[in-house]
Formats: sequence, C-alpha cells, structure tokens
Amino acid sequence: MEEATLAIEGEQVRLTPGMAVTVEFKTGKRRVIEYFLSPVVAVWAGGFAGAAGLDVIRLYPRPIKGYHSPLSLIYGGLSRYDKNMRIGPYHLPNNLILAPMAGVTDRPFRQLCKEQGAGMAVSEMVTSNSLLWGSAKTLRRANHEGETEPKSVQIAGADPAMMAEAARHNVDNGAQIIDINMGCPAKKVCHVMAGSALLQNEMLVGRILDAVVAAVDVPVTLKIRTGWDKAHRNAVTVARIAGQAGIQALAVHGRTRACGYTGEAEYDTLAAIKAAINIPVIANGDITTPEKARFVLDYTGADAVMIGRAAQGRPWLFRIVDHYLKTGELLPDPSVAEIRQIMLNHLHRLYDFYGERTGVHMARKHISWYSKGQPGGAAFRHAVNRLETIEEQLALTREFFDRLESGADLEMAA
Ligand SMILES: Cc1cc2nc3c(=O)[nH]c(=O)nc-3n(C[C@H](O)[C@H](O)[C@H](O)COP(=O)(O)O)c2cc1C
Repeated sequence: MEEATLAIEGEQVRLTPGMAVTVEFKTGKRRVIEYFLSPVVAVWAGGFAGAAGLDVIRLYPRPIKGYHSPLSLIYGGLSRYDKNMRIGPYHLPNNLILAPMAGVTDRPFRQLCKEQGAGMAVSEMVTSNSLLWGSAKTLRRANHEGETEPKSVQIAGADPAMMAEAARHNVDNGAQIIDINMGCPAKKVCHVMAGSALLQNEMLVGRILDAVVAAVDVPVTLKIRTGWDKAHRNAVTVARIAGQAGIQALAVHGRTRACGYTGEAEYDTLAAIKAAINIPVIANGDITTPEKARFVLDYTGADAVMIGRAAQGRPWLFRIVDHYLKTGELLPDPSVAEIRQIMLNHLHRLYDFYGERTGVHMARKHISWYSKGQPGGAAFRHAVNRLETIEEQLALTREFFDRLESGADLEMAA
C-alpha cells in the first residue's frame, strides 16, 4: 500500500491507507477525505478539496478507526460511519436512534423524528405494574397507530415475572422490539429498585433479562448507564450478562446513575463495552452535533448513536447528522420558515393525539424548545404558557414565528 501526498493550501498532508483528513473551510463547511485504498482516489479527493478550499483554515488528520484492510472498501463502504443498524430482523435505515424520554418521546414526536431522519425511536417507558396498564397515560404510551416500523417499547421494573408479563402484554399490543430500562435515574423508578438502580444487583439483572427474552419472540434490547457510581462502573460486566441472555442491542448512556445529568458523558467505558461483546452497541450521552456523533462513533467503535435532549425542539438534527455521516458535509439548520412549518405540523399532531386540553399542555414544552435562542423568545414563552386553547396557542405561535420570519426587530432578548 502506498502513501499519497496531498497539497492543500500549500500544506503537504501525507495520507497512508486507513487515514482520514478533515478539511475545514472558512465558510464553516467541512469535508472529510478518507484514504482507504488507492492513492489515486485520495489525490483526486485532495485535489477537489484543494480547488474548493482556497479558504481552508484547518486540517485534522487522524486514523480511520475500524480500518483493517483493503477489504474495508467492500464490506464497509466508503465510510464506516454511514452504517445501517440491524436489530434482530429489523434493518434500520441508518444508525441514528431517538432516545426514550418520558413525557417527550410520545407517538407524535417519535414519528416526527423518524420523518426527520431517525432510524428508530424508542417509546417512553411503560411500567411493568399491570395495575396501571388500563390508565389513560399508559394506554396512550402504548399507542403506535400509524407509526413507522420497528415499534420499540421500553419497559421498566425489577421483578422478573412482572417484566416478562409486561413484555408479553406490549408485544400483544403491537411492540416489535422490547427495550428494558436499566438506565433511568428517576426517583420514582429507583425507589422500587428499577431503572439504573438495578445495576447494583448483577444477579437480578441476569434473571430479568433471561425472563424477558424467554417471554417474547421479538428482539429484546437493553439500556443501561455505565454503573451505579464512579467507583462501581460495572457496565462491562452487565454487557456480558446481556450478551449471554440474548439481548440484541445494548444502549449505553456514558454516565453513572450517581452522576444524574451532571458533568460530561464519558466514552471510554462505551469503547470497553464494544470491545467486550458481540452485540450491537448504541452510544448515548451528550451527542449534540453531527461532529460529536462522528467523534463518538469513532472513539467507541459503537454501531449507532442515540440522541435525546439535543433533539428537543430540533428534530431535524437527525437529518443533519445523517447527511454529515454519509457525506462529510455540514448542512445548515433549517430556516425560520422551515422550523415554523415543522413545528406547526408537530402541534397539530399533538392536538390530534391528546385532544385539546392535554394537547395544549404538552405542546407548551415543545414550543419552548423550538423558540429557544430566538430573539424575543423569553417573552413569547411567558405569554404562550398561559394560553389554554388550541386557537389561542396557534395564533400566538404563528404570530411569533411570522415576526421572526419577517425579521422584525424584537426588543426583548431571548
Ligand atoms: C426528560 C427525560 C426523560 C427521560 N426518560 C427516560 C426513560 O423513560 N427511559 C430511559 O431509558 N431513559 C430516559 N431518559 C434518558 C435518555 O434516554 C438519555 O439516556 C439521556 O438523556 C442522555 O442522552 P442525551 O445526552 O442525548 O440527552 C430521559 C431523559 C430525559 C431528559
């Protein structure tokens, strides 16, 4: 295998097979040159970057993780980041997943994110306590009408028999994948020793996973944190237990339970998990931009990324990340007019799904997220949060976005 030397903006960059160079332009755009096989391809790509890059400001050379041989071209495609994910029989359109978020990832938001480029969206957690299955809230959470496949439903609980029963119940109601929550630090969940509290008891983890996998014919996936606290990062052990139990994909949030949402997610434990097990690993935690998604895939070797909070009020993030992973090109955020259209469509779906009263209440948080950072946003949110009818909420929201669109100079800062 030969080396190739590229001249980009007077800088000589030596590329050896298995190396990538990110070229950053003054316009903020970035292009990635990956050299897998032929120096001709690399020089051609470099020539292109050189020609387009009269205003190159930075070059980042780095090894392409996962590059082993020229065969990479055949089985890996041109970029290892642009991978489709498989969970059991389901081939996802890409490797981007919307994280389950109670109170956020309802059917309208899941469907919207799928339309905006998420390959899969996990539903909000459903309790394993069968006494609550008839409640309006749980019934709504289990409603998947018209949702793009695969329909993944998350269950939470600590009793193996109850979890098995919950899995069966949800499959009977249309779930195509069962996701087990051992990653949520919410007090309500942890007080009954569920969610991430379970990570403390590895024997019980094994019993729950075995019971659920045996109870249903559909793939079972698991979501965990890296451990109970920083002194007890046992995620690699739990991942091995998951592998033995027949779990078909493992999502890992790079924080311990004790960390809550503080500090930064770490990805070393995720890389260790990926190296330790053979099932697909989904990396989660603080993935907020296309570059971060790519970095995390690179650093951990994970098969997919899961995005939660960064998609709130920005469902198009999936489209932007997807495009970047496929092409190396950073798309701009949508215009105010596009955001307005996406948001109004979202609001109508919320009203249809929840009815007027709950729909208006649920819409408030989404409207807040969509308007975050916009001039006059704070005053707008204050006003819109007091309105109780669809008509009023829509009218004020439309007015606010119309003013933004027409570039009106709002005095109040967001
Ligand atoms: C409002 C909210 C609700 C959440 N609910 C759940 C849940 O029901 N089940 C779960 O496994 N994780 C839940 N999470 C955790 C997320 O799935 C995700 O692991 C976490 O937010 C880290 O990812 P992010 O940095 O991309 O947001 C929730 C997070 C938030 C912010």
